[in-house]
Amino acid sequence: MKEIAEKLIKWYEENQRQLPWRKEPTPYHVWISEIMLQQTRIEAVKKHYETFMKELPTIESLAKVDEEKLLKLWEGLGYYSRARNLKKAAILVQEKYEGKMPSSYSELLQLPGIGEYTAGAIASICFQEQVPAIDGNVLRVVARLTANSQDILLPQVKKQITNQVKQILPKQAGKFNQAIMELGETICIPKGNINCNECPIREYCKAYSKQLTSQIPVRNPKVKKKTEEKTVCLLYYQNQIAIRKRKEKGLLQQMYEFPNIPKLESMSSIEEQIQNWGLQLQSIQEIGKVSHIFTHRIWNMDCYIAKVKSKNTEFIWVEEQELMQKYALPTVFSKILQRKEETKLCDIQKI
Ligand code: ADE
Repeated sequence: MKEIAEKLIKWYEENQRQLPWRKEPTPYHVWISEIMLQQTRIEAVKKHYETFMKELPTIESLAKVDEEKLLKLWEGLGYYSRARNLKKAAILVQEKYEGKMPSSYSELLQLPGIGEYTAGAIASICFQEQVPAIDGNVLRVVARLTANSQDILLPQVKKQITNQVKQILPKQAGKFNQAIMELGETICIPKGNINCNECPIREYCKAYSKQLTSQIPVRNPKVKKKTEEKTVCLLYYQNQIAIRKRKEKGLLQQMYEFPNIPKLESMSSIEEQIQNWGLQLQSIQEIGKVSHIFTHRIWNMDCYIAKVKSKNTEFIWVEEQELMQKYALPTVFSKILQRKEETKLCDIQKI
């Protein structure tokens, strides 16, 4: 058992990736990177992390940032409540801990947005507390090591694996936690080219010896995503485009969006909708279908670009450059702007 941890740590010391937050792993740096890494690919995180740290280099700056700017920095990372929780937690750290991240697992766990995984990562990496940090990578690696063919998404299976990790967790818990996650990200990957030949703990792996690596871990099929059909309009008044703020609650809350409605079948009903927004239509053209997959639903969007002769007060009218610089536009909507570029309608005069 001890050998597994030793071999993993040795492998990690020799092979760890150079990642921006590893240059100076302060609690603030580790916290922000770990939150960004949840549900987002490492390549996308790298550039977001660098910009974030340039703009908000300290907990104090995060506590004081205005929400619009914060959401802009988070643009493209998804799950925007994670960004809002960061700010809430930073305010609490300012008020309760004199601006210093608390150093124990149990105190970290009290902060908004910090769950068992993140508390474990910060406490072990930054404060050498001997606690595990169990993410999807760790679940997969341990399920394979022990040839556990139960569904790793079940809470009781996670509990069981957490206990197994605790049994082999060495004093250098921070290094161990990073090592096992890194193994899961680079070698013991979910599917495809699982790289067992390079694995430092292959000799202990039951899934490897039983040739079960492609069957383990087991994940039971997820619930089917609900599909929503929509009509989305890029409305231009001269060189300004219409956006509006989404509602307080629900999906993409308080982010910006292009005006959209449940799918309208005919061009005349779309024209009517534009009039109902209090706008006078000059010209309209379809730019095609765009789909976006969220965690629990799928949007299929028919997208239109329309030129209007007047503005209304219901929408916010901004130049595209200002939109890109200042407003947090979720990926689902920036995809439509991209589509517009692809259909070579960038020059709005053409329609
Ligand atoms: N993936 C997410 N967090 C990580 C970490 N701290 N080290 C390696 N891989 C990770």
